[in-house]
Amino acid sequence: MNAGEIVRVEGLAKEFRSGLGLRRKRAVDGISFSVREGEIFGFVGPNGAGKTTTLKLLMGLIRPTAGSATILGHDVGETAFRRHVGFLPENPYFYEYLTGREILGFYARLSGVPGRRIRERVETLLAWVGLEHAGDARLRTYSKGMLQRVGIAQALVHDPSVVFLDEPMSGLDPIGRKEIRDLVLRLHGEGKTVFMNTHILSDVEMLCDRVAIIVKGAIRYEGPIAEFLHSDERKADVVLARVSLELAAGLDARWGPLTGRGEHVELHVDEKAIHDVLAQALDGRAEVVSVTPRGASLESIFLSAVREGGDAGPGGPP
Ligand SMILES: Nc1ncnc2c1ncn2[C@@H]1O[C@H](COP(=O)(O)OP(=O)(O)OP(=O)(O)O)[C@@H](O)[C@H]1O
Ligand SMILES: [Mg+2]
Repeated sequence: MNAGEIVRVEGLAKEFRSGLGLRRKRAVDGISFSVREGEIFGFVGPNGAGKTTTLKLLMGLIRPTAGSATILGHDVGETAFRRHVGFLPENPYFYEYLTGREILGFYARLSGVPGRRIRERVETLLAWVGLEHAGDARLRTYSKGMLQRVGIAQALVHDPSVVFLDEPMSGLDPIGRKEIRDLVLRLHGEGKTVFMNTHILSDVEMLCDRVAIIVKGAIRYEGPIAEFLHSDERKADVVLARVSLELAAGLDARWGPLTGRGEHVELHVDEKAIHDVLAQALDGRAEVVSVTPRGASLESIFLSAVREGGDAGPGGPP
């Protein structure tokens, strides 16, 4: 394991046999990536891309067809290191007649928290996820966001150093999503390494230090999110009014094609060129109506993957 490398995946593959003829399907097709200590790592991809399958492989719940994966330097087939690992599954199921306090007490006992420390641990966890007032209510009365917070508390019961979350924000309203985002940031603040599966691009932009983008079982990009989002691919639509013929000709020659829309004209330019485009437009006494960012790279990879049935085209940045 390289210094500071918490997860290392090399050539990992998983085939399922399904259907009547037991046809093989490669859900994960020889992927490699690594997660570094203390980062929030986004494992991003559209539905069916292979995110949950990868997470199940990392959790040792299923065996790989090929390749290897280590967490904290241990092969994921081992068990002892798991006390350092927390896991929130995709659709956690809880006994709905138990209360928040009861279920967390149950998990604390299960994960070996000593009897005399259980009560204190449960109260700390409830407070940590903002459920101290709902601790005595049955889980069947909890909202989806509250259940997701119980799920995160459950994943933290044994104070792991690495936390794996499968779609922690999916199905939540904007307030619920913000609450989970804040929890993820607090985990990060406490120095924990967070691995998060998601397909919600705005959450990725707000939270993640680095991402791997998986499409149809293959990694399309791995690297810092900032680099990805500010790559050359990012475009913007600039709409201008009061454009003189001379200015129009100048803009069209340098940034064109310039298209007309009633009183307005529009340019589709690289985001990094916006400053120069606006300077030229204002210099020529045009009025800036709007500047709209278009097609963040994550989004364009997703869309082309869906449209082209897996070939996402010349997607990721170098
Ligand atoms: N046990 C299984 N048997 C057969 N096929 C499976 C099995 N588990 C997953 N698959 C298939 O593997 C592919 C990847 O599924 P996976 O659940 O890993 O995707 P995902 O990226 O987590 O998607 P989602 O965003 O919908 O959660 C899918 O085509 C799925 O149908
Ligand atoms: Mg999934």
